[in-house]
Formats: sequence, C-alpha cells, structure tokens
Amino acid sequence: MDRINKYIASCGVCSRRKAEEYVLSGRVKVNDIIIKDLAYKVKEEDIIKIDDNIINKEEKKVYIMLNKPKGYVTTSHEQFGRKSVLDLIDEDVRVYPIGRLDMYTEGLLLLTNDGDFANKLMHPKNKIAKKYIVTSKEKITQNQKELLESGVNIGDYITRPAKVNILTNNQFEIIISEGKNRQVRRMCEAVRVNLTNLKRIQIGNINLGNLQTGKYRYLSDEEIKSI
Ligand code: URA
Repeated sequence: MDRINKYIASCGVCSRRKAEEYVLSGRVKVNDIIIKDLAYKVKEEDIIKIDDNIINKEEKKVYIMLNKPKGYVTTSHEQFGRKSVLDLIDEDVRVYPIGRLDMYTEGLLLLTNDGDFANKLMHPKNKIAKKYIVTSKEKITQNQKELLESGVNIGDYITRPAKVNILTNNQFEIIISEGKNRQVRRMCEAVRVNLTNLKRIQIGNINLGNLQTGKYRYLSDEEIKSI
C-alpha cells in the first residue's frame, strides 16, 4: 500500500509535498488518531481524515467491452453456481455489467464502474439503439419482418418500431431502442420465428467488431464519448 502522503495525493486532494506538510502539522488522522509519521503505510481498511474530513481514493474509471459467450450469466451476485461474465474479467477495480444479456445470448456486453455512463446507456429516454443478429430455422417472411418492425405484443407490452434487415436464408438483424426483458426472443416468439441463436453486435456506435468470444478490451475515448 501507499505511504500516507502518496495516498493523500492520489485522492486528488493536494500534491505529495503539501500532503507531507499536512501530516507533519498534525492535520491528518488515521482511524481517528493523529499520524505524524511519513513512513506510515495506508491499509485497505484505514479511514483517513484531513481536518476531520474523510478523503477517498478516486477510483480509476474503467470501460470494457466483452464478447460474452453463451452459458454465462450477467448478474454480479450469482447464487446458483453458474458461470458469470465477471469470471472473464481480470481487473484491479470492480466493474459491473451495463444491462443484461440472457444466459444463452452471446455478443457485446459493456461493463464499467462509472455509474453515470451506465445510467446514460440504460435510461429509456436516451433510446440507444442495439443491434442483434438472429439465427432462425427458416427464412423469415415479409409479413413477419413487417410485424417485427411495426411493433408486436409480447404479453405485457407492445414493442416500439424496430428495423429488420434480412441477411441470409436463416439470419436477420434486428435493431431495437428499448430493453424489455428477453425482448428479442419474445418478439420472435410472438411472430412465430424459430430463433436458434441470438447475438448482440452493436450498442449505439459501439461495435463488437472481431473481438473473440470470451475476450474483452477497453473502449476507446471516442467510443466512450459517443454515448
Ligand atoms: N433480447 C433478448 O431476448 N435477450 C437478450 O439477452 C437481449 C435482448
């Protein structure tokens, strides 16, 4: 762990030199005891105060794109012993998934420790578009395409307009700007499309590209700003 003056500086409070002055002049407390020893090394559980105000280490913001494999859950607290996407992330800071992908859905999943960024992406008013590739047993008909595009009843909700592009005899892309639970699967069920695979490939302007399944990378500044 860091020495006390380095730790204080890393909290963004002041420079290391200034922090030394604070320590030597008795303005710094560790767990409510004044510490004047510059060699003191801060422990994880220590509560550091300057002039009786608690200071916290500024956490580095991390923005990650993962190509989620099938068979992994996106919940942070997995209770049933299933594999979690968090097992695939090796970072010093804790990140959490932005939104969900079903256990058997693969593809683009964003993770972060930046709550504002996550909120922006998730808030329905921002209507961020998400693109999925659906693999189906049979080619979808023109009628099914039109139904998916104009909105379908998925039980408790009528979906907003979507865009469908037919790619091949058994694949099409669908772009939706909302995120109801299992929405694409339920839309396909509603119009009797036999979905055999579901993969998310884009969120807003952020594209999965050729990232390998199970691998992750940091978002670029441009990608972060695009949200
Ligand atoms: N729609 C689904 O059906 N499942 C997902 O994981 C995401 C969107």
